[in-house]
Amino acid sequence: MNKMYKKSFAVFTAAVLAAFLLIFLLVCCKKNQDKKNAELQKIAEDSGSENIILGFSQIGSESAWRTRNTESIFEAAARQNIQILFDDAQQKQENQLKAIRSFIIYQVDAIAFVPIVEDGWDNVLQEAKDADIPVILVDRKINADPSLYSAFLGENSLEEGRNAARFLLQKFKYKKEDITIFEMSGTENSSVVKERASGFREIINKEPKFKIIHTENGDFLRSRGKEICDILLANNVRENGNTTNTLFFHGQKIDVVFSHNDSMTLGFLDSLDAHKIRIRDTVFISIDAEQKSIDALTKGKLNCVVECNPNLGPALMDLVKIITSGNSIPKTTYVTERVFTENDDFSKYEPRGY
Ligand code: AHR
Repeated sequence: MNKMYKKSFAVFTAAVLAAFLLIFLLVCCKKNQDKKNAELQKIAEDSGSENIILGFSQIGSESAWRTRNTESIFEAAARQNIQILFDDAQQKQENQLKAIRSFIIYQVDAIAFVPIVEDGWDNVLQEAKDADIPVILVDRKINADPSLYSAFLGENSLEEGRNAARFLLQKFKYKKEDITIFEMSGTENSSVVKERASGFREIINKEPKFKIIHTENGDFLRSRGKEICDILLANNVRENGNTTNTLFFHGQKIDVVFSHNDSMTLGFLDSLDAHKIRIRDTVFISIDAEQKSIDALTKGKLNCVVECNPNLGPALMDLVKIITSGNSIPKTTYVTERVFTENDDFSKYEPRGY
């Protein structure tokens, strides 16, 4: 073997070993999470659920994901005979604070809420703690002393952002030129947006060719996704004098649209359809995996959809049963999630149910 051949062989072997190690670690993490979740389910089965009242504050119904999330919680509560005192905060933190205070006055057995933003919960959580009512954060995290709440249950948003970026690294493996990214993010100061953004950056920053040229807040809304694309197209006509099948941001070609949720992505696609534009050379990545975006993926309109699992109801009811029966629960429980890409065998997809 000559020296060069030996060197490339060693590099190749190291790369193969590293890939195997990564797959092994990912499989182990998933298995550990599944095992922990199964153990919790078993303890919950042994705890009673009679006469439990759960106060639940949801942030609203901004997306199909959110609607499914609420349904999942109601369905699981009904199955477990847990009574829910429900409040829809209509996207306002002040409404959530009021609802939580009313749950405390009502002396519910436990409180669960989806914190719309990260900050501003300390006082109300202290009040719940003083009243001896356990609180479980659902779907989103907060910035507060962890002793003020019992647990967090939801998705791993950091990992969702990383998975979106990992797809890009793979997709553009052989491209040497800069790759421009237009990002549509959701509710400002929410933990999901912060974590998705930082997970995404952590991975793309490994390769300087990836450049985020703009981030626009679309509030997780379909109407805003449409509006954002309408404005891009209108500016394009103004700057270049014509409509093209290529997307631009201030004259710069957009190679990738990274959207923090499906509603905004679908709104963006609505705008392209309304303008009869079929974009050929922009890669679209979305998060959530609702049926409509999976359909768009199978039609070639999207390239990658990272799942955000809204079915938190069963695990939430297990945690509520365990904690209200006086047992301890894990501080963090993540639900399992997957990634759908253009490279999949679409015939193997199951209906999403939302
Ligand atoms: O907090 C989860 C996010 O909120 C989902 O990605 C989005 O669709 C929802 O509105």
